[in-house]
Amino acid sequence: MSNIALEIPSIPISVEEAEKIRQPYLSLVIPTYNEGRNIVRMIETLSQLLDASLPSDYELVVVDDDSPDRTWEIAEGLIDRYPQLQVIRRQQERGLSTAVIRGWQAARGEVLGVIDGDLQHPPEILFKLLHEIKQGADLAVASRHVEGGGVSSWSVIRRFLSRGAQVLGLVILPRVLGRLTDPMSGYFLVKRKAIASRPLSPVGYKILIEVVGRGDIQQIGEVGYVFQERQAGESKVTWRQYRDYLHHLLRLRLSSGRINRLAQKINFPLGRFLRFGFVGLSGVVIDMGLLYLFHTVWGVALTRSAIFAAEFAILNNFFWNDRWTFADVARQQRSPSKVFKRLLKFNLVCLMGLILKVLLLNILFNGLGVNAYLANLVAIAIVTVWNFWINLKLNWRVTETQ
Ligand code: GDD
Ligand code: MN
Repeated sequence: MSNIALEIPSIPISVEEAEKIRQPYLSLVIPTYNEGRNIVRMIETLSQLLDASLPSDYELVVVDDDSPDRTWEIAEGLIDRYPQLQVIRRQQERGLSTAVIRGWQAARGEVLGVIDGDLQHPPEILFKLLHEIKQGADLAVASRHVEGGGVSSWSVIRRFLSRGAQVLGLVILPRVLGRLTDPMSGYFLVKRKAIASRPLSPVGYKILIEVVGRGDIQQIGEVGYVFQERQAGESKVTWRQYRDYLHHLLRLRLSSGRINRLAQKINFPLGRFLRFGFVGLSGVVIDMGLLYLFHTVWGVALTRSAIFAAEFAILNNFFWNDRWTFADVARQQRSPSKVFKRLLKFNLVCLMGLILKVLLLNILFNGLGVNAYLANLVAIAIVTVWNFWINLKLNWRVTETQ
């Protein structure tokens, strides 16, 4: 899962060039994973429909994540027959939302769309969606929860989970999910200019929430549709999608909040700092747990126990900061000597942090008469920012330009 923001270019080429090579009006992305038994019918049906209504003014972009059933190969075999078709095979990445964004990045259309590759989203609904866009909507969504909408055959559990997810989203992100009757929909069209040059970093399945959360979406149109039963293959939805969904909601919540706007103003990497803080918390748990083990259970002297426990906590924090908080930087410097150098520096910074903490504690408690526990908390907060900033600037920094 990458936490790098992706951007859709505004107009891929100049207006004159667009005129010359006829930039299509609609680019429809079809994300696929193991849809070998659906993709042929999918492309046939869509081409027939769009050849009739938007002759050579549309393109279909299949984005396949290296499906074991070789969906990409089957789709590539259709390009001769369907000149509007483009196939992208991703081999290093996996994920529905990022696949859609990858397709939109390669697309040339003025209107960008997404439809599932398993015929559960009825292609004929596209006309109604296009009509909504022509009426001035920035975003047109196919919804199961407006008039004419529904689900043909979903288990009670899946219906419950889907609605439950919607309610959770309304609690965490009311300003985004509250604008849609079916925020879970994977079938919609959006004007390129509403999302162009906006950093998009979705997680998992819910690309629509990302578009509404980060895009410049003024007017939304909704069209009812019935989610069809799958004819071939199976859904890829697992518990991971629910975990990703929660992560996605929290990430959007953070990035849209006042704190984040302030952090952006002062260019403070809030997301990374929160991860650093989370790792720090795990270190405190390890520190306390090991202190109890060494001193109370094994009867080791208090100072020695405290030093052992602190060092293990530092090792834990280093490991998770290297693998998670600063993963994108550490990934570029994996040689054992580089890792060891970072560990040494991390230890040094933590040690200096400890000294700073004792100093601050004394100034607050003895100098300013602040309550001991409040003084300790303030000292911990200040030292956490100090540790983070020093490590960000002096330890996990890109030394070689890639
Ligand atoms: N490239 C790529 N990579 N495509 C993927 C991946 C992936 O990791 N995972 C799934 N897909 C493709 C599938 O091949 C299919 O074409 C489409 O994304 C939807 O996946 P399904 O697994 O069939 O999802 P679903 O039918 O259970 O749920 C769909 O409908 C719901 C209701 O609208 C999804 O669109 C959900 O997002 C949506 O909530
Ligand atoms: Mn499906």
